[in-house]
Order: sequence, then C-alpha cells, then structure tokens
Amino acid sequence: RTIAIVAGGDSSELPVSLRSAQGIYSFMDKEKYNLYIVEMQGLRWEVQLPDGNKAPIDRNDFSFLLNGEKINFDFAYITIHGTPGEDGKLQGYFDLLQIPYSSCNVLVSALTFNKFSCNQYLKGFGVKVSESVMLREGQSITDDAVVEKIGLPCFIKPNLGGSSFGVTKVKAKEQIQPAIKKAFDEAKEVIIEAFMQGTEITCGCYKTKNKEQVFPITEVVTTNEFFDYDAKYNGQVDEITPARLSEELTKRVQTLTSAIYDILGCSGIIRIDYIITKGDKINLLEINTTPGMTATSFIPQQVRAAGLDIKDVMTDIIENKF
Ligand code: DAL
Ligand code: MG
Repeated sequence: RTIAIVAGGDSSELPVSLRSAQGIYSFMDKEKYNLYIVEMQGLRWEVQLPDGNKAPIDRNDFSFLLNGEKINFDFAYITIHGTPGEDGKLQGYFDLLQIPYSSCNVLVSALTFNKFSCNQYLKGFGVKVSESVMLREGQSITDDAVVEKIGLPCFIKPNLGGSSFGVTKVKAKEQIQPAIKKAFDEAKEVIIEAFMQGTEITCGCYKTKNKEQVFPITEVVTTNEFFDYDAKYNGQVDEITPARLSEELTKRVQTLTSAIYDILGCSGIIRIDYIITKGDKINLLEINTTPGMTATSFIPQQVRAAGLDIKDVMTDIIENKF
C-alpha cells in the first residue's frame, strides 16, 4: 500500500507535527508500505520525493506525479496537530475522496478539538471536568467575574489548540486580561478553567475491530509552573511510565479511557490527559486525537512499556481501516 504521512498544518504546532511525521516514518514497516511524507501549510501541499525534491499534491484526488507517473495514496496517516488535521477538516476531505485515514471521524475530531464542547458533552456521561467558561471573539469578562466564577489560580487557554501554545496559569487578578489576549492570539475562542491541584497523567488507547489496547499510564512531573511547551519539548519534565499509581487507580484510569473512547466512537490512537486530585478523583483535561508521535512522545513510551512493538501497532491501525 502507498501511504501518506500527512504533516504540517496551520497552527503553532507545525514544528511538532513535522517531528511526529519523522517519528511515524521511522516506526512504520517499510517493507510492507510505500511511505511518503506530505507537508501541508495553507494551500501549499507538497510530497517529499525520494530524491529529496518536493512535488505538488493535486488537491482534486490527493495524487502526485513521480517521473511522469500518477501516484495515488491508499491511506493517510494524519499527524497534523491542530488545524486542519485534528479538527475534522482533513477528515472530511479524505472522506469525500474515499481515502481511509488513521484518526477519528469528522464529528469526533471536531468535538474533541473543541475542549469546551467536548468537556460539556462528556460531563453528561458523568466524566469529571474542571469548572470553566468560554469566551468567543469579541466577548470579554471582568477580573471580578473570573475570580467569582472560576477562582484563582486558573488556566486561561485557547479553546482550540495544543502543545500549550497560548496557555497561562494565572495566579493574580492583574494577569487575567493579558492572559486572555495571549490566548486569543492563538484561537478565536478562549477558555478559563479552574486550576486543579494534583498529579497530571496521560493514557493512550486504540481499538480495532477485534482488539482493545489501553496503554500503561504516564505520570508527568515538571519543575515548571505547569506542563508548558518548554516542559513538553525541551525536557523540563520527568515522564514516568508506568505512573506511580495504585493498581486500583491505574485500572480505573484505563477503564475510563476505554469508556471515553467508546462514548465518543474514536478511531486510531488517542491519548487522554487527566489530573488526579485529592481522594483519587480522576478529572479529564483533554483528549488528543492526533497525539504527538516524536521518538520521545508519550505514545511510543507507553507502547514500549506495554511490551509491544510500535511497528505492529502502526500496521494494526492501518490494516484495520481496510
Ligand atoms: N498536541 C500534542 C502534540 C499532543 O497532544 O501530544
Ligand atoms: Mg493536546
């Protein structure tokens, strides 16, 4: 099969996506698949050719020309974090072209990429989430209202985004408005969430027609104020897999992860971030439907900790779509 590893995108997470694409390329079975990395940025869609050059992608059918011969893709492994790869847009495009892809469908991608809507939705199923308010472009909130409704400290973040771009942990009133402005620089919607004191963990999962795999949990310990971009990508963090949780709590987190996967009707690998608060309460932070896949990302770590071969996991995900 000929596979496109689709990377790039139109958000601040672009460089992370390019690294994820390298990771996925290295994890895949190169005897079984013809692999090409396709980079998308705005209307520049290009495939990396074996000779190091790039060729344009024909948007009518997602094909390209190699030595005058038209090459079509059988499958798209989407690893764009953020728009248009994590929010349903590309999923809709590939649906129209009838090209199977690695990630969740249009609705699930769009819903999970909208932190506020997704949390409200899952709250209806009894999932614990932090108290939050959402502001759309043009809307504002006073400092007093934030303190009254959410309290301090709080997190102010873009409602649509990842890798902690535009996120501020706000501890004092005078930080509120600058933090809102910073978050609006990343996205057209901003959320203000109550701070939850506890242990941050993350748990990956994928299911196929006849297999369910919930990975070991990773515990995130950072000396930074929170698990920000620097902590995520510049090593200011200890990532402990499996997390130092009791067997009982581990089981509960994994069961919840599997349940959320089913409630939403996910597909491919997802990774869910949580905060464990006092009394071993599991609070949902967010769901990542195109989780980071760099060589050092959580999912590859968790796959290793599970004693699995990531090459087999990738093959499993691809073959399940046919
Ligand atoms: N948004 C980053 C890539 C992640 O969730 O892993
Ligand atoms: Mg994320």
